[in-house]
Amino acid sequence: MKAAARARANIALVKYWGKADDGPLNIPAVGSISITLDALWSDTEVQFDEFLATDELTLNGQRRPEQHDRVRRCLDLLRARAGVEHAARITSRNNFPTGAGLASSASGYAALTAAAAAALNLKPTARELSIVARQGSGSAARSVFGGFVEMRTGTRPDGSDSYAEALMPAEAWPLELVVALTTRDEKQVSSRAGMTRSAATSPYFPAWVARNQPDLKQGREAILNRDFESLADVAERNCLCMHGAAMAARPPLLYWNGATIACLEAVRELRRTGVPVFFTIDAGPQLKAVCAPGESEAVREALTDVPGVLDVLQSGLGPGIETDPGRWSAQ
Ligand code: DP6
Repeated sequence: MKAAARARANIALVKYWGKADDGPLNIPAVGSISITLDALWSDTEVQFDEFLATDELTLNGQRRPEQHDRVRRCLDLLRARAGVEHAARITSRNNFPTGAGLASSASGYAALTAAAAAALNLKPTARELSIVARQGSGSAARSVFGGFVEMRTGTRPDGSDSYAEALMPAEAWPLELVVALTTRDEKQVSSRAGMTRSAATSPYFPAWVARNQPDLKQGREAILNRDFESLADVAERNCLCMHGAAMAARPPLLYWNGATIACLEAVRELRRTGVPVFFTIDAGPQLKAVCAPGESEAVREALTDVPGVLDVLQSGLGPGIETDPGRWSAQ
């Protein structure tokens, strides 16, 4: 009863920020569109053990009991389906900094869900995996798929139509990503806490939700038509609108630092000089620059020179989850 899976991080271009309710179903208030990355991933092994009292998670060599409620939520859904009651030992490793706005919960919960399902010998569809992964972390529902992905809020109260779907394969438009790291610290306010606070206190939150359908439409059409300018337009506006809603929360949420703004200016300057690139920023101070195929070297050079940038990561677009039950048992 042991299996392993790899899932990649994803970056949202039309963002998920806010929940339909605060219950364990974790249904998003807005739909989202993301790209799955090839260079940033979580490798997760799950082993069900009849002698274990409770589920145990070790992430990058450290116990993470604060994640246990969410882990249990995903595992309970799968255990119920398999008719198994054993607790599980979960060992997960990220090949990138955890909790610094690089979507480690997305790859982590997607990998956990896939590995647990494989360990229980279940054969869920990708859609079913996406629904379970959502209940660990909303963005994890998208990391089940590769390339360009759209997450739907759905309308059913039980969340059975709130899942992600593949929009277009990575090969159809191999965009590139450059991440400018401006801190190595874990963020102070998690996405979960930040979006809950924004929804409860920000006067701009209703405006943010009202923009969602038109932004999804523009994002979807820009991707299917490979219209870089239109995608840049909607992604930057959508990102700033999310941060505007967060900044207007009480107390205010400001996820950026000085280097984040300097990177944003550098990306705008690059675009003014003809480089097809746009920025997006999640609930942390790292700036993510998305560029057209073959452009990431110029973007990497420009962002490396920005004062306050500690490191720069590059990635292409990658596949969805991969399970490999043989990999760990061979060790
Ligand atoms: C800003 O998926 O981490 O990255 O569902 O509470 O786990 P939970 O939130 P999470 O939020 C991601 C927020 C975001 C935007 C996005 O990825 O769409």
